[in-house]
Amino acid sequence: MLINSNTYLVKKTALVTLILFSVSCFYACTHKSATVIPIVTNDTTATNNNHDTTTVATDTSVCFQRDVLPVFRGSCAKSGCHDAITAKKGYNLSTYTGILAKGLVKGNSAASKVYTECTKGKMPQSPTPKLDSTQLSYIKRWIDKGAPNDTNCAVVCDTTKFTYAAAIAPILKSNCYSCHASAVASSSGGGIILDNYSSLLVQAQNGKLLSDLEHLTGFNAMPLGGNKLADCIITQIRKWIDAGAQNN
Ligand code: HEC
Repeated sequence: MLINSNTYLVKKTALVTLILFSVSCFYACTHKSATVIPIVTNDTTATNNNHDTTTVATDTSVCFQRDVLPVFRGSCAKSGCHDAITAKKGYNLSTYTGILAKGLVKGNSAASKVYTECTKGKMPQSPTPKLDSTQLSYIKRWIDKGAPNDTNCAVVCDTTKFTYAAAIAPILKSNCYSCHASAVASSSGGGIILDNYSSLLVQAQNGKLLSDLEHLTGFNAMPLGGNKLADCIITQIRKWIDAGAQNN
């Protein structure tokens, strides 16, 4: 009797499991669920251009305003190259409309000159450094997902982290080295070098680094020609400076 009821239970459990499994498998196979990546931040003042702090669209791994535009602005849209005024060979790579106007096939990075010229190493031209693998991947993934003008980018940053190595240098690398790395500073960054701790320290201590980032009147708004960095990123830099701008 006991054995029988146990067997029944086992069979019943197996059947229920099988049904549940089939249903979930069917669901998983037929519904590509949208990936919603939550905004990770410890700072309630974290913001982005649309002040959208709740939802983000499918495929948020790359976002035009946050990841792609800074690459074009920093490395391509320079005076004498592909800024709005020079627009060499008809390429104005300083705005969304400009970037889409020529050499870009939505959904097909392999057919898009604005991408392939960079993978071939033809662009950007010296002294601007070639794009690194992260920057190339941003452009590729963005074109392949249809080159949308997405501005509601989640800003991922942790204001409890503000050491030079873990936080500050990576922020400057993504947003500022295209004009302020040692190799290009004289041609693109007004001679200001920010990829070297001691020269960065000068700008941190004279107050210009933070004031430029905060777009205060009377200062040069940085990144030049770009949007103000997210508040939580500026907070990380402010905390690093307040703690003595150490080489930590
Ligand atoms: C597209 C190029 C470009 C980018 C990107 C850029 N800068 Fe600059 N930056 C310049 C130029 C050009 C100057 C010189 C401005 C002048 O002297 O009129 C400058 C000057 C500065 C100065 C010197 C102080 C001053 O105001 O003259 C600081 C500090 C600075 N930038 C910080 C930054 C930081 C931080 C970033 C990244 C968040 C950044 N810049 C991104 C081009 C750029």
